[in-house]
Amino acid sequence: MLLAIIPKVNMKVGGGYLHFRKKPLSLFFIVFVCASIVVWNWEKTPHLTTLLPPHDQALHLFPVKREHAEDEAEQGLGLVPPSPSTITSTNSNYFQDEYPKASHHENTTPLLEKSLSEGKERADTVKQQLITPVTSQRTESTVTDTPITTVETQACNFGKGKWIPADNRPLYSGFDCKQWLSGMWACRLTQRTDFGYEKLKWQPKECKMDDFNRVEFLKRMQDKTLAFVGDSLGRQQFQSLMCMVTGGKDMPDVEDVGKEYGLVKAHGSSRPDGWAFRFTITNTTILYYWSASLCDIEPVDPTSETTNYAMHLDRPPAFLKHFLDRIDVLVLNTGHHWNRGKLNANRWVMYVGGKPNTNRRIADIGGAKNFTIHSVVRWVNSELPMHPGLKVFLRSISPRHFFNGEWNTGGTCDSTTPGSLEVVQDKSSDPIAAGAVKGTDVKLLDVTGLSLVREEGHISRYSIRAAPGMQDCLHWCLPGVPDTWNELLFAQI
Ligand SMILES: *[C@@H]1O[C@H](CO)[C@@H](O)[C@H](O)[C@H]1NC(C)=O
Ligand SMILES: *[C@@H]1O[C@H](CO)[C@@H](O)[C@H](O)[C@H]1NC(C)=O
Repeated sequence: MLLAIIPKVNMKVGGGYLHFRKKPLSLFFIVFVCASIVVWNWEKTPHLTTLLPPHDQALHLFPVKREHAEDEAEQGLGLVPPSPSTITSTNSNYFQDEYPKASHHENTTPLLEKSLSEGKERADTVKQQLITPVTSQRTESTVTDTPITTVETQACNFGKGKWIPADNRPLYSGFDCKQWLSGMWACRLTQRTDFGYEKLKWQPKECKMDDFNRVEFLKRMQDKTLAFVGDSLGRQQFQSLMCMVTGGKDMPDVEDVGKEYGLVKAHGSSRPDGWAFRFTITNTTILYYWSASLCDIEPVDPTSETTNYAMHLDRPPAFLKHFLDRIDVLVLNTGHHWNRGKLNANRWVMYVGGKPNTNRRIADIGGAKNFTIHSVVRWVNSELPMHPGLKVFLRSISPRHFFNGEWNTGGTCDSTTPGSLEVVQDKSSDPIAAGAVKGTDVKLLDVTGLSLVREEGHISRYSIRAAPGMQDCLHWCLPGVPDTWNELLFAQI
C-alpha cells in the first residue's frame, strides 16, 4: 500500500522542481511537501523495511546467472582462441555468444520499488542540494540551459599526468551499490585483501580537473541523456557511473526506462541488450547498450536457427541510428571482441557495402577493427550538424595485463602495486582511436595510458567465475580505474 503511494508522491516532487524556476511560490509548496514526506517516511520506515523483500531478492536486476554468461564470454576477449586440446567443457563456453538463449524467464524487480526501500533520507539530501543553489541564485537560473562550453578543456590533454594517493577515494564503497554493480566486479566482495588500488586519484599534468560531484553532474545533465555504447568494458564504465551518481547508495527516484529504448529482455534470451535508468529529480537518463563491435549486425538468414550474422563494418549499430536523436552525450568503445575466435564463435561474417567483404586489408582482424572504428566515427561526425547539442566521445581501448601467458594459458596479473604512477607522453597509447577522431568533432576519451600503468587494478585471481587457475586481467575491480574514466568524462561535459 505504502509502496504504491510513495512513487507517485516522489515523482510529483521531482517534476515540480523542474518548473520551479518559473514559479517561486510553488517551490515553497514543494519544500513543504518534501519536508512532510521526509518526516512521514522517517516514521514509516521501520515498518516498511520489514515489509520489503529480502535483500538478495531485490537484486534480480543483475542476477548471477546472467553475469556468469557474460563473464565466461568476456574472459577470452581479445585473446587468441584456445587450441582445441585446451578446450574443456568449462572454457569452451568462453566463446559462446554474449547473450546465450536461456530457457526460462526471470522476474526483474521493479527498481523504483527497490530504491524506495532504502536511502530515502539520502535522496532527499540530494534533492535539497539540487534545490538550494537555485533558491539563492535565482537570477542565474539559466545556468543549466546554456550550451555546454568546452573552450578551456579542449586544449588540455587529460591523459597525461599522474596517480596520487587520495583520502577521498573511492567515490563509493564496493560493499554498497549492489543495485548497480555486478557482484563479479565488486572486488570488495571477494577474497581480495589489498585495496590500495581504490585510493588513487588521477591528476592531469596540464589541466585542472575538478573532483567528481554527483549533484553537479545531475545539474549539468538536467533533461539530458548519456549513453554508453560498447562492450563489457563500456558496461563497467556504465555501472561505475551509476555508482558514482548515486554515491553507491540506493536512491529513490531512479526509474527503469529501458522500455523507452527497446531494452527489454527478448523472448528466450537471458537478458536485455542494455539498461536505461532515469534520475527523475533532474530528468537525467544514463543508459548502456551492448554493441561489442560498434557495427550493425544482422542475421544473414532470419528464418534459420543456425544462420551466420552479417557484420556490416561500414554501418553503425541500428540502435544508434534509431536513438541518436535522444542522446546528448555519447560514449563509444570497442576493441576486445576483434579476434578470430570471437568472430567464429558468434558466426559473424564481415560485410562491406552490403556484401561479404573481399578486401584483403579489411579481412585482417586489425584492419577490420580499424576500418569499423573509422566508419562509426565518420558516421557520427556527419550527424553532428543535425544534432547541435550532441557531444560524442570515443573512449580509447582499455588495456589488458596478462603476464606470463594468455587468459587461457595461465596468464596472471598478481601485482598489488601500479606499474608506474605517471604518464609522461603526449601521444595517446591507442593510435587507432586517436587516428579515427583526428579531424572530426568526436572527442577522444583517452584512458589507455593512465590505465596501462594500473596493472594491479584488475579482477585478477579473484574472478568468481573463471575456471580455477584463470585470471581476469581484462576487467577492472569496481570501485577502481573505470571511475577515473568517468571523472575524465565529467571534466569534459
Ligand atoms: C525530460 O527531458 C526530455 C529531453 O531529454 C524532454 O523531452 C522531456 O520533456 C523532459 N521531461 C520532463 C518531465 O521535463
Ligand atoms: C585505419 O583506417 C583508416 C581509414 O580507413 C586509414 O586511413 C588508416 O591508414 C588505417 N590505419 C591502420 C593502422 O590500418
